Amino acid sequence: MIFMSFLSILARRRDGQVHSRDEIQELVRGATDGSIPDYQLAAWLMAAYLRPLSFEETAELTLAMAQSGEVLNLESLPKPWVDKHSTGGVGDKTTLVLLPLLAACGLTVVKMSGRGLGITGGTVDKLSAIPGFRLDLTPEEMIQQAQRIGCALTGQTPRLAPADGVLYALRDATETVRSIPLIAASILSKKIAGGSETILLDVKCGSGAFMSDLAEARQLAETLEQVGLRAGLKVKAEITDMDQPLGRAVGNALEVAEAWNVLSGRESGSFTEACLQMVGDVLAEVGRAPSHEEGVEQARAALQSGAAAERAEAWVVAQGGPAGSVQAPEQHFAAAPAQLDVTTSSEGWVSGWSARVLGEIVRDLGGGRKAKADPIDVSVGLESFIRIGDRVERGQRIARIHAAHPEALPAVAARVTSAVTISSEPVPARPFFLERP
Ligand code: URA
Repeated sequence: MIFMSFLSILARRRDGQVHSRDEIQELVRGATDGSIPDYQLAAWLMAAYLRPLSFEETAELTLAMAQSGEVLNLESLPKPWVDKHSTGGVGDKTTLVLLPLLAACGLTVVKMSGRGLGITGGTVDKLSAIPGFRLDLTPEEMIQQAQRIGCALTGQTPRLAPADGVLYALRDATETVRSIPLIAASILSKKIAGGSETILLDVKCGSGAFMSDLAEARQLAETLEQVGLRAGLKVKAEITDMDQPLGRAVGNALEVAEAWNVLSGRESGSFTEACLQMVGDVLAEVGRAPSHEEGVEQARAALQSGAAAERAEAWVVAQGGPAGSVQAPEQHFAAAPAQLDVTTSSEGWVSGWSARVLGEIVRDLGGGRKAKADPIDVSVGLESFIRIGDRVERGQRIARIHAAHPEALPAVAARVTSAVTISSEPVPARPFFLERP
């Protein structure tokens, strides 16, 4: 490695010049081993925020970040190796359904997931609602488990893409998270370190997501695909709606129970259909189905035959959770002590059901964090019984609150009521997929 003063790299970014591979490798090496001080890294991040990296520079940054730690070697596992990643939303328990469903369709899924921050939930927090479920698997344990059951999931580990840990913490502290190239490098470096080849990226768009408008979401999807291509990954990026919560439940244990209900056929509806569509896309992408439609039918067959539920059960038990919890989640998860149904005082058609407001409510109930070190209460949350476009009558139940304290319920109910907008005119249902290639 050629020695370079970091100051000159910093000045080049400030002046909008193009970084070489060596410069980017120097930056990532110094971030990982601590030889570049935080104040210089923070200055570089702000310069990169104001003068965004090109696709080529972002691909170099992605590869250098991926190589800052171990890269999982999946060679001993059957191909295709797939992964999915969501940019984060409210009620987004898709991974919990897709992981066993993809494995039941014969694919290998080895996945690292994160905790939630702010109003967007994280898969690690959701799975922590399962008593005994381990989220600290070593790379070796991940591989052994995937050999046996086709899937494994762990929390982020400092051994994989450590440079992302350093840079992400600084971005969080310097208001530079919302840079599309930096988001793309952060996500894709962890995907490369995880060893998969084909990645389904679910770019959420709407009030409950990082990207609130379609133009920004499109730019992120395009950057992820272009950078993925340059970094040797097959990336399929879809833009999906996050203006209303996904599915019925928002809140950690409630969402795991909903996912298990979907896998066991006890619940169906628009969320189940969205999951089947996504699996259909992956099966067609990796050549396991001749078309998207046939991929969806394969996924439906895996659900209806019970194969996906069996795989979920094997997954829970393999990672230390209790046997039987997929079939009877209510017997295994702690319920919140206080519940209240919220009804509407007007009639008409639902024209808005704010994912942002509902996500904030669940976070404030204790289901999410305001600061990184905050503890969470996995039992609290909300159930939603309406979707945009539904007809509602006066007095109809629209949601159920699950809270830790009964005295919180009236104020929370008022906030839930403020999240819904009712129109006197019919409103079309909002599609889940806003754009898919
Ligand atoms: N998710 C990540 O992993 N990184 C980001 O920068 C944003 C979302």
